[in-house]
Amino acid sequence: MAPVTSLAGKRVLLIITGGIAAYKALELIRLLRQSDCAVRAVITAAGMKFVTPLSVQALCEDRVYTDMFSLTDESEMGHIQLSRSADLIVVVPASADIVAKMAAGIADDLATTLLLATDKPVLVAPAMNVRMWQHPSTVSNMDTIIRRGIIGVPPDEGPMACGEFGPGRLAAPERILGAIDRILKAGQDLVGRRAIVTSGPTHETIDPVRYLANRSSGRQGHAIAAALAAHGAKVTLISGPVSLADPQGVTTTHVESAEEMRDAVQAALPADVAVFCAAVADWRVKPSKTKIKKSAVSPTLTFIENPDILLEVAHAEKNRPNLVIGFAAETELLAEHAAAKRVRKGCDWLLANDVAPGSDTMGGSENEILLLTEEGSEMWPRTTKEAIAERLVERIVRFFIRRACS
Ligand code: CTP
Repeated sequence: MAPVTSLAGKRVLLIITGGIAAYKALELIRLLRQSDCAVRAVITAAGMKFVTPLSVQALCEDRVYTDMFSLTDESEMGHIQLSRSADLIVVVPASADIVAKMAAGIADDLATTLLLATDKPVLVAPAMNVRMWQHPSTVSNMDTIIRRGIIGVPPDEGPMACGEFGPGRLAAPERILGAIDRILKAGQDLVGRRAIVTSGPTHETIDPVRYLANRSSGRQGHAIAAALAAHGAKVTLISGPVSLADPQGVTTTHVESAEEMRDAVQAALPADVAVFCAAVADWRVKPSKTKIKKSAVSPTLTFIENPDILLEVAHAEKNRPNLVIGFAAETELLAEHAAAKRVRKGCDWLLANDVAPGSDTMGGSENEILLLTEEGSEMWPRTTKEAIAERLVERIVRFFIRRACS
């Protein structure tokens, strides 16, 4: 496990729910405080049967919140502000009950209200009896919250307080601290990761003065490359002809045609993540060495299929990135075409966008996304291409955190 560096300046809101493992939350607070991380705690009514607000408060060196309807708490700090004042919300231990409430969106006390109202990343470390952990309800509830982006630190296996044996013991506080550390290293959470991004159109030469092209501006792909670099990834951007500046902190390779783009992608491998955002021309023609002159007969162009760069990388036996992400530009039947495209291309995630006339997506400054993963689909409402890039990169960060935690 990578050593935890200083978490000075970071703030964790710790929610302690009921369970025999609640005492281990005290050890977690101690470790966080040792790393200079500020900790503010909320204890549920069940949690208070296992640890006292006084002991938690002494370790946190901050006040402890327990009651949603306490006038003092609400006048000093509303529950929305309480969740927003933290960089991360951590639920340790997370009981079967709170996991179920999170999955269902129930907000019937301070802890659950905070969890429903927050816009901050949430980490849960479940702890419960092995049968409760393996119950189909808990399995499905965990699945639901993880799909929504919550980060889980799976429980350990071993003898339990109830005398049974199996998975359900709270993960060691050091392991939870490691996960917190990875999440809180904002701006460095992709350090050590290599990324490839394709962007822009390709130009397929017809003759020395003419080419086939499309309306792609490269804005979405360039924004993704910049956002990955801002999170610390080592990024190679392979760009078709665009009128954008090369993003800072990114190695940019300029190409013209689909074949050049394919060669540049192959040369940039291996990578941990590859995002194929370019609008690659599906066909090229055999270029004429001289300018095609006007004559009585109109010229006929014979199309030759271009290599499918995404499909090749996603199906490669060697050097396949852990996460392969494609885009789909569709003008009709978005969901159906995109779902079929994800399977055909073999990519892990596919971001589909509507490029029908009037959508103003291709060449425009905004985008609306239908994200397809093997777990299902979700809509990302229309916003700037930079905001879409940031949202995608946050998702990529969580993918790698989850891999590291599991
Ligand atoms: N792509 C690629 N190489 C190609 C064509 C497409 O890498 N020769 C990638 C794009 O970068 C994108 C995805 O494949 O991530 C889907 O591109 P899209 O143009 O939507 O689909 P096509 O494969 O061209 O299929 P169709 O034109 O039939 O919709």
